[in-house]
Amino acid sequence: LTRRVRIRVTFSSDDRNRSYEILIRDRILDELIEGTLPLPNANSFIIVTDANVNKLYGSKLLKGLSGVTKAGLVSFPAGEANKNIETAWKVASELSRLGADRRSVVIALGGGVVGDLAGFVASIYKRGVDYLQIPTTLLAQVDSSIGGKTGVDAPWGKNQLGTFHQPKGVFIDPRTLLTLPPHEILNGVAEIAKCAIVADREMFSQLSKLTKFDSDIPRKFIVRACRIKARIVSEDEKETNLRVVLNYGHTVGHAIESSSNFRLRHGMCVTLGMMAESWIALTMNLLQRTDFEKQFELLRRLYRYSSVNLPILNKETLFKFALTDKKTDSLTVRMSLPREIGKMYTTADGNYRVPVSKEIFDGSIDYLRKALSNG
Ligand SMILES: NC(=O)c1ccc[n+]([C@@H]2O[C@H](COP(=O)([O-])OP(=O)(O)OC[C@H]3O[C@@H](n4cnc5c(N)ncnc54)[C@H](O)[C@@H]3O)[C@@H](O)[C@H]2O)c1
Ligand SMILES: [Zn+2]
Repeated sequence: LTRRVRIRVTFSSDDRNRSYEILIRDRILDELIEGTLPLPNANSFIIVTDANVNKLYGSKLLKGLSGVTKAGLVSFPAGEANKNIETAWKVASELSRLGADRRSVVIALGGGVVGDLAGFVASIYKRGVDYLQIPTTLLAQVDSSIGGKTGVDAPWGKNQLGTFHQPKGVFIDPRTLLTLPPHEILNGVAEIAKCAIVADREMFSQLSKLTKFDSDIPRKFIVRACRIKARIVSEDEKETNLRVVLNYGHTVGHAIESSSNFRLRHGMCVTLGMMAESWIALTMNLLQRTDFEKQFELLRRLYRYSSVNLPILNKETLFKFALTDKKTDSLTVRMSLPREIGKMYTTADGNYRVPVSKEIFDGSIDYLRKALSNG
C-alpha cells in the first residue's frame, strides 16, 4: 500500500471539531519517526505503549519525536491482565511526572489493550487531553483504534470502567503486522470477516477466496474494514442502535470467551459466535440458507485455521453469560443478526437488537457442537 488512504470519522455538525482522519499507509510509522508527517500542535507528546511494542517501535518513535518536539514515553507490561485501573493510575502518575499538561497529546502505540487504556487515561487526565492512535495489531487497526470507546477491566467484568473519547487521528502502518504472532493476526481476521458479513458483500466474497490468513493479508481488507467502522461510528457514536451491529458474533462469542475464563482467543470465540448467531438467523427465517452456508464455510475455515480443539460448550453457562440483564430471570437475549451477507436485520420499528429465545439460543449451541465435532 504505497498510496496513503484517508478515511474521515465525522460527527453531527454541532461537533465538527471532534471529527478526525484515519490514515493508512505502509511505513507511516517511519514517517512519524523521521518527522516527515506533521503532527498536531502540542506542548509535548507522551507515548503510551506496552513492553513488547516498546522494544519493537516505542523507543524508535520516542527518539524520532524528541528530535523535533518535547516527548516522553510510558510503558507498562503487555497483556489484558494489565488493562486495569492500577495501570491507568501508574500511567497517569507518569504523565504528571513527565510534566504533561492540558496541551500535551497522548500517543497510544500498540494493540487494543494499549489503545483502550491510553485513551481512557487521556480522557480523564486533567479532565481530558487529546490523543492519537497508532494501532500495531490487526485487531486494533481494523477495530479498536476507531470509534472512541476507551476503558479498563474491573474484577467484576471486562471494560467496566470507561469513557467515549474520540482520538484526534489514527495512523495505521500495516507493516507493523510483520512482527505480530500469527494467532494475533487471526483475532483481527475474525473482526474483518464480521465487518464483511455486516456491511460488505463484495468484501466477503473476496475474503472467502483467500487461502491463507497471515500478516500479508491484502491491505484492501484493512481499508474496507476501517471504512465500515468509520461509517457506523460516525452515524451512531454512542451505540444507541446501529453501532450494535458491530457486536455481531459477540453475544455468543463473549459467552464462550467468558466461560473459558478468557483462556480462549477472542477471534476464535467471535468466529464460533458468528457461526452460532448465523444459525439463529437462519432458524428465525431472517437469513436465507445459501447465505448461511457461504458464511459457515468461511467461518469454519477460519476456525480450523486456528487449529485449536473445540471448547466445552455448556448451554446453561453460555446462556447465563449471554444475558445482558443479569438481574431478571429473562428467557431472551438480544443480538444483532444478519438478513443477508452484507446487511443486518432490523425489527419492524428499526431496532438492530433482535430478541432470541432461550430455546433457539440452546439450539445454536447444539448445532455448533454437532457441526464442528468432526473437525
Ligand atoms: N475500544 C474498542 O472499540 C475495542 C474494540 C475491540 C477490542 N477492544 C479491546 O482490545 C483489546 C485486545 O486488543 P489486541 O487484540 O490488539 O491485544 P493486545 O493489545 O494485548 O496485543 C496483543 C499482543 O501483541 C503484542 N503486540 C502488539 N503489537 C505488536 C506488533 N506490531 N508486533 C509484535 N507484537 C505486538 C502486544 O504486546 C500483546 O502482547 C481488548 O482489551 C479489547 O477489549 C477494544
Ligand atoms: Zn471483537
